[in-house]
Amino acid sequence: MRRLLVTGGAGFIGANFCHYWAAGHPSDRLVVLDALTYAGNLASIAQLETRGALRFVRGDIGDGALLGTLLKEERIDTIVNFAAESHVDRSIEDPASFLKTNVLGTQVLLEAARAAWNTPAALASGRFHHVSTDEVYGSLEHGAAGFTENTPFAPNSPYAASKASADHLVRAYNRTYGLPSTISNCSNNYGPYQFPEKLLPLCILNMLEGRALPIYGDGLQIRDWLHVSDHCRAIEVILQDSPVGETWNVGGSTQDPNIAIVGTVCDLVDAAFAAEPRLATRFPHSAAAAGKPSRSLMQHVRDRPGHDRRYAVDSGKIRQRLKFSATTDLAAGLADTVRWYLANESWWRSVASGEYRQWYARQYASARD
Ligand code: NAD
Ligand code: TYD
Repeated sequence: MRRLLVTGGAGFIGANFCHYWAAGHPSDRLVVLDALTYAGNLASIAQLETRGALRFVRGDIGDGALLGTLLKEERIDTIVNFAAESHVDRSIEDPASFLKTNVLGTQVLLEAARAAWNTPAALASGRFHHVSTDEVYGSLEHGAAGFTENTPFAPNSPYAASKASADHLVRAYNRTYGLPSTISNCSNNYGPYQFPEKLLPLCILNMLEGRALPIYGDGLQIRDWLHVSDHCRAIEVILQDSPVGETWNVGGSTQDPNIAIVGTVCDLVDAAFAAEPRLATRFPHSAAAAGKPSRSLMQHVRDRPGHDRRYAVDSGKIRQRLKFSATTDLAAGLADTVRWYLANESWWRSVASGEYRQWYARQYASARD
């Protein structure tokens, strides 16, 4: 039986991980530590808390005293670190908050683990898994081979630079202090509970409300999309089977340009409206309710500074050594995601209010409604 601390467990991937882990490992102890920033939503894990499947603690990974108490009183043996500032556009506006949480916060968490696991037995049973991104490797030319675990880091945004710094610290704590750590560098995730600042939920919500779909630049940038359930399973496999000190790339092996992905999601929303006439009453401002294709809402807007052109992940190492492969087909995963947002309007209406509305108005001032 494991005793897990999941940091950032009220965010998109962390919440999915909690649901995944609670279902597959019901006798494990699950403690979530989350600062509940704008991106954290207790509603995403409330059901688990209500039925006693996890304990939620509101707090910051940069709070060493809180971590010391929590690791000791809960006898934590496994830390999965999802907590981060995660949106590239916000890192361009405010890099300092990214350094504070992603770099300094991770170092405080590493230090707390080192202090708590200070016996050979604790070190032998402990595991610090750090969740990172393929963005640390920078941008790939079209046709170039995917990132491997040996690709040199070349981050291009403050977000990517902060994640790269954290990865270096995790590695250093393993090599210097013997901390039993592992790292995963994962590609773009999509699925339920994703905060609507990210491309796919932003477009789904905008379609439902009849707002423009902002396509940065020419929209031909390529991401390697991975369903979040595949990411959760990859982390499970790493926790169970990876030797300490290892780094694992995880990708979905997809290479569609943004504009094609958004087009597919438009068609899925239109098909849902065609199949279910009540959706037009629920979303009267949508293009679909007015009989227009959702694709008509696409609008090219100013490109993101330093925008990475292409990411592609070579997942050969995890496939060969840990026998892990992503299994969710992109078309099926996108259809499932559209269904989830249609069925969970109260979740996204509550998270896409207040701070998000103000940020959105600033960020997309140039996009037509
Ligand atoms: P998210 O922004 O949806 O969630 C982040 C969570 O961390 C939120 O609940 C937030 O409240 C919490 N948090 C932020 N600062 C904190 C702090 N100082 N202390 C405690 N909690 C804090 O992010 P996400 O998309 O779920 O990403 C989770 C992790 O996965 C991040 O480390 C991110 O870099 C990494 N990642 C994300 C993707 C992706 O496509 N979303 C891909 C690869 C890697
Ligand atoms: P995003 O979801 O922000 O993830 P990341 O920047 O980590 O890859 O963006 C995914 C891609 O979509 C990226 O190439 C930027 C682009 N994008 C848009 O074209 N319009 C948008 O409104 C957003 C948020 C992103």
